[in-house]
Amino acid sequence: MAQRRPLVVANWKMNGSLTSIRPLLEGVCNGLQEGCDIEVAICPPYVYLAEAAEKLKNTDIKLGSQNSSHLESGAFTGEISADMLKDFSCVFAIVGHSERRALYGETDNLVAEKFMRAQDAALVPILCVGEQLHERESGDTEAVIERQLNAVIELVGIAAFKNAVIAYEPIWAIGTGKTATPEQAQEVHAFVRLLLARHDDAMADGIRILYGGSVKAANATEIFNMADVDGGLIGGASLDIDEFLNICHAARGC
Ligand code: PGA
Repeated sequence: MAQRRPLVVANWKMNGSLTSIRPLLEGVCNGLQEGCDIEVAICPPYVYLAEAAEKLKNTDIKLGSQNSSHLESGAFTGEISADMLKDFSCVFAIVGHSERRALYGETDNLVAEKFMRAQDAALVPILCVGEQLHERESGDTEAVIERQLNAVIELVGIAAFKNAVIAYEPIWAIGTGKTATPEQAQEVHAFVRLLLARHDDAMADGIRILYGGSVKAANATEIFNMADVDGGLIGGASLDIDEFLNICHAARGC
């Protein structure tokens, strides 16, 4: 089995101010000084990328974006291109976060285009997939995840997943305080890996699949201990220095 390096990604969403992100960045940098056995990335709001890039430049902590346009450049008011993100030292780009899908109408196809464009700009996409509560309750979890993944596989081909990360985020667990049980997470993570393995065994074995949805220091260890969970995508808890650092420490055992 492949040795997958654990990855913990902070998704700050639309939170923070110049005043509040400075100590947060500093606290995370100081706390992770010897943390090279895991990979850590921070995805701040776009306008704080420059500030974060400056603070992170002599550390191992990577920078990522929360979104990225599917278009290259042009008259698209309010959009940010993948090349611009690369310009600001981004390594990762989250695509298809459920808040983008639900609140901004992002379809599976649009998410696939974002994935492709991000890779064209040499960013590593973090592709979010996940089901709504009613889909889980009606037994459709796997069908939903399969549909979301297939849209990307059909557009970019399976080989593109060699340079990508997947985040399983059950929508009913995001920001709700309800976490999937470790077993529920493992079940879906194993399904994702199996689905990819049907196309490419070695890639499926090597790809990192993160869990996201109300991960906290108190529940991180048991989730990260599951065989197919390779780290986490952390929203609310990433805004608290101690919580986030403890989650990163928990990932060491992944
Ligand atoms: P949460 O968010 O940790 O606040 O639930 C996770 C996410 O949306 O990526």
